[in-house]
Amino acid sequence: MTAQLNPRGDVAVLVPAAGAGVRLGPGGPKALRLLGGEPLLAHAVRRVAAAPSVRVIVVAAPPADTQAVRELLAPIAAVTVVSGGASRQESVAAALAAVPDGPEIILVHDAARALTPTGLVESVAAAIRSGEDAAIPVLPVVDTIKEVTADGAVLGTVDRSALRAVQTPQGFRRAVLAAAHAAAVDPLTDDAGLVEKQGVRVACVPGSEYALKITRPFDLALAEHLLHAAPAAGQP
Ligand code: CTP
Ligand code: MG
Repeated sequence: MTAQLNPRGDVAVLVPAAGAGVRLGPGGPKALRLLGGEPLLAHAVRRVAAAPSVRVIVVAAPPADTQAVRELLAPIAAVTVVSGGASRQESVAAALAAVPDGPEIILVHDAARALTPTGLVESVAAAIRSGEDAAIPVLPVVDTIKEVTADGAVLGTVDRSALRAVQTPQGFRRAVLAAAHAAAVDPLTDDAGLVEKQGVRVACVPGSEYALKITRPFDLALAEHLLHAAPAAGQP
């Protein structure tokens, strides 16, 4: 069913989906790999589109697949599809450039986090609405973390109590994200890293285990098992 985006919503969501999925192994671009018979990107966009604050969704697709992605997403929601770049950061920049005037909150959300609950989209947006310039979903680190040398010997044990694993969607006041991208030099793996370099405070909100990033074959197998337990689109 096609979700109606809220024309009075204050949020635009950028979905970088142009990666090759090298770590997942052969089988085409990761965003188009199947989970429960449907591409990861379709799962991710359906959950985002059900968030009541969302007015605009821009997907950065693999350049060779933009038309296929438009056709895939048309029945799900009114989504703008642009060609992604050679790095995640370039894909996010291409999507950001396509956001029309209006939404003042921008969320950046990996297509690879296919089972991210709609409620997490709303809670990150709410943190920006309440006055934060940037907000990210995080989980505590459960494993003991060691620092090691290049040849694999332990240097020491890191105090994990101050560490957090970071997810998406990451939220930003629009001008803050635009300024950080304009000033970016080295590619980073997330957008909060860019705004941190600008000296902007980044707030943390509780993440969700369902927002796991599907990276390796094990993660895809895990997501298959989680599919029926994960909150459906529109659920918290
Ligand atoms: N991404 C993108 N453009 C790129 C690289 C990555 O839009 N040039 C997107 C991916 O499609 C994914 C998100 O950024 O939704 C997070 O990246 P990652 O999990 O690393 O995905 P891939 O780059 O596809 O995987 P890999 O690094 O294993 O190739
Ligand atoms: Mg990658």
